[in-house]
Amino acid sequence: MKATAKAHTNIALIKYWGKRDERLILPTNNSLSLTLDGFYTKTTVHFRNDLLRDVFYLNDTVVSGEAYNRVTKFLDLVRQQFGKQDLYADIRSTNAVPTAAGFASSASGFAALAAASTRALGETMTEEALSQLTRQGSGSACRSIYGGFVEWQMGMKADGSDSYAVPVAPAHHWDVRVAAVVLNATEKDVSSREGMKRTVDTSLFYQGWLDGIPQDLIDIKDGIRHRDFEKLGAIAEANCLRMHATTLGAIPPFTYWNHLTVQVMETVRQMRQIGIPAYFTIDAGPNVKVLYLPEYEYKVEQTLRELPGVADVILSRPGEGITYL
Ligand code: ADP
Ligand code: DP6
Repeated sequence: MKATAKAHTNIALIKYWGKRDERLILPTNNSLSLTLDGFYTKTTVHFRNDLLRDVFYLNDTVVSGEAYNRVTKFLDLVRQQFGKQDLYADIRSTNAVPTAAGFASSASGFAALAAASTRALGETMTEEALSQLTRQGSGSACRSIYGGFVEWQMGMKADGSDSYAVPVAPAHHWDVRVAAVVLNATEKDVSSREGMKRTVDTSLFYQGWLDGIPQDLIDIKDGIRHRDFEKLGAIAEANCLRMHATTLGAIPPFTYWNHLTVQVMETVRQMRQIGIPAYFTIDAGPNVKVLYLPEYEYKVEQTLRELPGVADVILSRPGEGITYL
């Protein structure tokens, strides 16, 4: 009753930003991501008859509090789904990604947990069913089941049975690279969960955000199909800016950016002015991810590393979906 799974994080090019059902984690819009090979989680789940509660170790440290509750709550769903209510687990997870700093540790974390826990119970699930289950741990995690370009279809049903991710193009379709610019790898103040809720509940700009999604999705999928990098990058960057604009219209207003974030954004725009096609995107944290093509890797990395305040630049290629170890 033991299994190990590895899942990569993903970076959203069209963001998931808002829920219509918080318990089931049902989103208000479709989103689209690229799975990254540079950041991942490996999780081993061991269901044991002698345990009276779950035990969770993250990076060799025992976890309690909110992060522990999220994991046991998720395992409760798994136990309930497969009729194993009396079985507790020893969970050992390692993040090859900074935790809770806007690098999507929750995405790789819950995708690996869903895959390892269901496999440990001897269950074989379709990718669609696994994505649907994973979604209930963390929304963006449902996209990490697949490699390459992935769309999370929001679905319409109240029970969430049509809300899961589907593959758009595999990792080998197009070698789009991502440089993660590490400015501040400490845990953030406003989690993505809290930030999106505040925005949905209070931001005057939220409807504007939703209105832009359908066309962004059509255009970005066209860009992916034709490997049109300028198109992909321009849409991803504009979509990111509109997501972050909603936070400024929230009550109380907030932003995930700091002065270094803005400096990196400006540098990316300057790279384009001198003929280097690069575009940025930012999740719920100050760090910036820069999209570029392989032939510009050296120039992009050098430029970013030279900036003051940049602690590290981690390069990533398109990554694969779930694997079992
Ligand atoms: P991030 O930008 O890193 O995704 P979030 O605030 O969205 O930040 O999510 C971080 C939370 O995800 C952690 O506090 C923890 O609850 C959960 N998490 C991170 N890594 C793991 C893991 N390997 N296994 C289970 N849960 C994890
Ligand atoms: C800005 O998936 O972390 O990264 O569903 O509440 O766990 P929960 O939120 P989460 O939010 C991710 C938000 C984002 C955009 C994205 O990844 O699409």
